[in-house]
Amino acid sequence: MALHNLALCLVIVSCFLVVICEGQSSVPVAPGLSYTFYSTSCPNLESIVRIHLLQVLENDTTQAAGLLRLHFHDCFVQGCDASVLLDGSTSGPSEQNAPPNLTLRQAAFKIINDIQTLIQGQCGQVVSCADVTALAARESVLLSGGPYYNIPLGRRDSPNFATTNVTLANLPPPTFNTSQLINLFSSKNLTTTDLVALSGGHTIGIGHCTSFTNRLYPTQDSNMDKTLANNLKLTCPASNTTNTTNLDLRTPNIFDNKYFVDLMNRQGLFTSDQDLYTDSRTKSIVQTFAVNQTLFFQNFIDGMIKMGQLGVLTGSQGQIRANCSATNANTMAFWSVFREQQQQGTSAQY
Ligand code: HEM
Repeated sequence: MALHNLALCLVIVSCFLVVICEGQSSVPVAPGLSYTFYSTSCPNLESIVRIHLLQVLENDTTQAAGLLRLHFHDCFVQGCDASVLLDGSTSGPSEQNAPPNLTLRQAAFKIINDIQTLIQGQCGQVVSCADVTALAARESVLLSGGPYYNIPLGRRDSPNFATTNVTLANLPPPTFNTSQLINLFSSKNLTTTDLVALSGGHTIGIGHCTSFTNRLYPTQDSNMDKTLANNLKLTCPASNTTNTTNLDLRTPNIFDNKYFVDLMNRQGLFTSDQDLYTDSRTKSIVQTFAVNQTLFFQNFIDGMIKMGQLGVLTGSQGQIRANCSATNANTMAFWSVFREQQQQGTSAQY
């Protein structure tokens, strides 16, 4: 009950923030996107997303992390076009089957589909799955204690997904050092500050042993706090165990700046995290965010708005998917086969 009241308060406070924070980011808006895109076609869009996520997160706060990561994995591969949501097809394995996406949460895909169904019930087929994913990430940050930020909307959904090779080339592995991360991020016009701020997304969520045992076996990374290393060895007695651990040691489910405090104490989980405090180009940014949460939040917002506009499809490009897991062509093909078989009395096999 207390949680429910807290949730209601959050809705009220955040609705208030929607008003006062409008236009807070100076990041330019990509052509075709706008802050008022659905104000006529789906005026209740943001509250539909928020109210559904309040219910979801009330049952399991950790789902917020899965939704935030989903948006990142969508945007870095082929742009924020919901391509990561597509199931595989006869044309080959989908992005979801590529190694970095195997640890995306299945629950996150379902949550996006559920929200899309709710939206269609109220507004029809007008909101893209890419926009739903961006909004779900934004609400996840807010409902985990992070900042509210307005996001430009109007993305459209891709009719196809990327190959495994393209997916692998665009998603950084946890073994990357800062130079490799800076190169990848700058290829997407994201600055070194964006890199550090967006890495702060690791203030919530979990990692599997396979993502960090390179730092434990065969030799222990000297840049990892000894107590943390000993604890991680208990969680991951071998490099291939399927166990998980929290990314942020201090406040694992709260969106705050403690991730940067972890890094300053050599308690970052991945090489890609900890190296941000070793490399001279990023160390001072980590220190600044560790002592100034407001500054971290401001830079995180700018990074998210930039990342959220990568390679967007707009206007008449792409489509608005009815079902986020399949392109409209595939959905229609499924229904026509289903209808045909029903007419022939063979639908029982479904
Ligand atoms: C900078 C490069 C990045 C690398 C190398 C990286 C890598 C990873 C890895 C390996 C995991 C854990 C996967 C697993 O073992 O289950 C993870 C989890 C996560 N990442 Fe990142 N990531 C990066 C950037 C980002 C960004 C930009 C965001 C969002 C702004 C983000 C948000 C998350 C979240 C929230 C989780 C936890 C997911 C969950 O609990 O299901 N990451 N990341």
